[in-house]
Amino acid sequence: MNKNIREIYFSPSGRTRKLSQIFVGNFKGDIKTFDFLLKEEVKEQNLGKEELLVVTMPVYAGRIPEICISKLKKFKGNDTPAIALVAYGNREYDDALLELTDILKEQGFKILGAAAFITRHSIFPEVANNRPDEKDEIKLKDFANKCKNKLESLEFNELKIKGNRPYKDENKKALMPTGDDLCINCGNCVKICPVEAISIENPKETNESKCINCTACIYNCPTGSRNYHMEQYNMAYEKFKTDNAERKEPEIFI
Ligand SMILES: Cc1cc2nc3c(=O)[nH]c(=O)nc-3n(C[C@H](O)[C@H](O)[C@H](O)COP(=O)(O)O)c2cc1C
Ligand code: SF4
Ligand code: SF4
Repeated sequence: MNKNIREIYFSPSGRTRKLSQIFVGNFKGDIKTFDFLLKEEVKEQNLGKEELLVVTMPVYAGRIPEICISKLKKFKGNDTPAIALVAYGNREYDDALLELTDILKEQGFKILGAAAFITRHSIFPEVANNRPDEKDEIKLKDFANKCKNKLESLEFNELKIKGNRPYKDENKKALMPTGDDLCINCGNCVKICPVEAISIENPKETNESKCINCTACIYNCPTGSRNYHMEQYNMAYEKFKTDNAERKEPEIFI
């Protein structure tokens, strides 16, 4: 079945985008992508029954990133089918998938399927470093096939998504990237930062009150200047690696 697909992702370090692209690649039809990392304003979008919305969000402290919520609310469905995916770094996704499906339902979408997949941890990149991998791709394909079958049968069941309400309280941010002497003033980090926490006058500094610790500046810095130059990072990294060494597997709700 061909559908007009509306693909949404927010992907500061690139793995949420990768997950979304692998998944959406299993569908036929015209694809329009909305990249929430871009600073441009999202205009109100009204979607019909003939369209399919696929939203993939990274998990931040067990929730979906707060800056994505107002953008998501620009999308209005008219019983439009939607698929919700979350990408998380092998710790837990807590209430993120429930939060995402709740928002989509509130916006007039019907949840066709939902899933949580594991992707490299952008803050501690040795954790789940090669995810999504081949095994994940097979599971994504299987999930896509199940969604397609359900779309054809037009039978939408109420899904019981893992998570709790009220949602988990977001953690207070403890880490924040800055630049060091490797900086060549290229301006990449200034352009990519979604909350304008870095100024071109001094790209080594970060505005602490604005930074959401999304890691986009780290992954877009050509010299490795932007990183976690703080003592507590190395200790937190070692602990996180030990606590989250065991491979987690994707969970699918359909
Ligand atoms: C601020 C922040 C908070 C995160 N919180 C969690 C979390 O609660 N659980 C988890 O397993 N991974 C967590 N991660 C890891 C991301 O969910 C994961 O790395 C995801 O792939 C990031 O998406 P991206 O590669 O598209 O930037 C967090 C990452 C960031 C930057
Ligand atoms: S300064 Fe903070 S918010 Fe801006 S790109 Fe870097 S990590 Fe993200
Ligand atoms: S991306 Fe890196 S090198 Fe370029 S301005 Fe920012 S800190 Fe400097």
